[in-house]
Amino acid sequence: MDHQAPEAPLLQLDRLNSYYGPVQVHFDLSLSVPAGQIVCLLGGNASGKSTTMKAILGLTRPHSGTVRFAGQPITGLPTPEIVRRGISSVPEARRLFPAMTVQENLLMGAYIRSDARAIGQDLDRVLERFPRLRERLRQRAGTLSGGEQQMVAMARALMGRPRLICMDEPTMGLSPLFVERVLDLIQEINRDGVSVFMVEQNASLALRIAHFAYVLQSGLIVLSGPPGRMLSDARIRDAYLGGEPGL
Ligand SMILES: Nc1ncnc2c1ncn2[C@@H]1O[C@H](COP(=O)(O)OP(=O)(O)OP(=O)(O)O)[C@@H](O)[C@H]1O
Ligand SMILES: [Mg+2]
Repeated sequence: MDHQAPEAPLLQLDRLNSYYGPVQVHFDLSLSVPAGQIVCLLGGNASGKSTTMKAILGLTRPHSGTVRFAGQPITGLPTPEIVRRGISSVPEARRLFPAMTVQENLLMGAYIRSDARAIGQDLDRVLERFPRLRERLRQRAGTLSGGEQQMVAMARALMGRPRLICMDEPTMGLSPLFVERVLDLIQEINRDGVSVFMVEQNASLALRIAHFAYVLQSGLIVLSGPPGRMLSDARIRDAYLGGEPGL
């Protein structure tokens, strides 16, 4: 490792090569999430962002390379074991159980645990952060608005008491008001000590809250750095971030 941080990162992906059948999706993908930070993976459609999340969570197994969490290799472990070690996810399109109530969905986030009293306390603690959900505990999740469903997905992820939350396009399809709320919540969760790995297509939104960002293009990391540097370089904006004038 040529630039080893003084303290080992919480999450480290080291030269992952992932395939779907014969099609290669990641090419020597390496990245890391230091403890306590919000790290963002940017990239356009089909660049391999969601596959990165799946590789971290054990939902796809890379052909080669290593995923390390808290210093331990977790590549190839079953997903429940990875969750037990402290990683939870807010997947693409939220993936709630639409016919179940909000409360039932939230309790699914603690399914690996059996300490009923602590789970009840955690539900209370999580609902303090999401008061809107407390009023809707008995409502079927499928009848919530998109923004409310995103909140259920985030609250459910927190029920597992994670050290790291992986989020796949958390602001996708939300109204501007809910986008702001979700970005605020991500920062609040991070301030509570949870590290965040966030996948986003919307660079201008993600760079507002990230401590560090990577840009993925066709399965290759083509750029990485702190948001300030990416935003201040017009060539980078034009080449990799869509040259959005709002950036
Ligand atoms: N289960 C699968 N089987 C075969 N190919 C897949 C599978 N899942 C993803 N792919 C392919 O892998 C590539 C990367 O997909 P991935 O979902 O990781 O991209 P993404 O960056 O998340 O895209 P988007 O921004 O559209 O969500 C795409 O070309 C996709 O078609
Ligand atoms: Mg995706």
